[in-house]
Amino acid sequence: MLRIAVLVSGGGTNLQAIIDGVKDGSIPNTQIAAVISNNAGAYALERGKQNGIESILLSPKDFPDREAYNEALLATIDSCNVDLVVLAGFLVKIPEQVVQKYSHRIINIHPSLIPSFCGVGYYGLKVHEAALARGVKVTGATVHYVDAGMDTGPIILQKAVYVQEGDTPEVLQRRVMEEAEWKILPQAIAMIAKEHA
Ligand code: GAR
Repeated sequence: MLRIAVLVSGGGTNLQAIIDGVKDGSIPNTQIAAVISNNAGAYALERGKQNGIESILLSPKDFPDREAYNEALLATIDSCNVDLVVLAGFLVKIPEQVVQKYSHRIINIHPSLIPSFCGVGYYGLKVHEAALARGVKVTGATVHYVDAGMDTGPIILQKAVYVQEGDTPEVLQRRVMEEAEWKILPQAIAMIAKEHA
């Protein structure tokens, strides 16, 4: 059984895709041990609770400084006793001590075709704003392993999505989620679960 922790900051639609995949068996041999959020207002925490998953709020506001927060994040992940950490819209930079301890055991979903529109400052809607501003005709999403850099780790899966005439960042974001993110993130976990079995 692959035990995973899902780290979230927002709405949690990618978390929902994982929950659905575990339920319908398309992600085999996997248990979501915990949902961890830095953001008290994240609807993702509700999704976790509604599905009977331990859902933990770990807000930087409750710690004196970033180092204390980073230590707490590592301790919390350790306490979940997981094989894989899944960043599903987690908008906090993963501390070095977590990257080191969980080397090759952390994956992230990014809403573009890396190496386009990634790195510092590219997250959430900003990615789609940048893609539209550049006028690309194809964008997409990437699942990759997390290393010490920002969106620099080895790529696991990518899926392309067409930009359409008249797209707004919100419309494009939704299409990238529906056509790419909600498919390749569960698929990547399923691949890792099969290797783990
Ligand atoms: C997703 O589009 C995800 O790719 C993005 O945040 C959104 C979270 O949505 N992540 C990043 O931009 C990471 N750099 P969700 O909470 O509905 O899954």
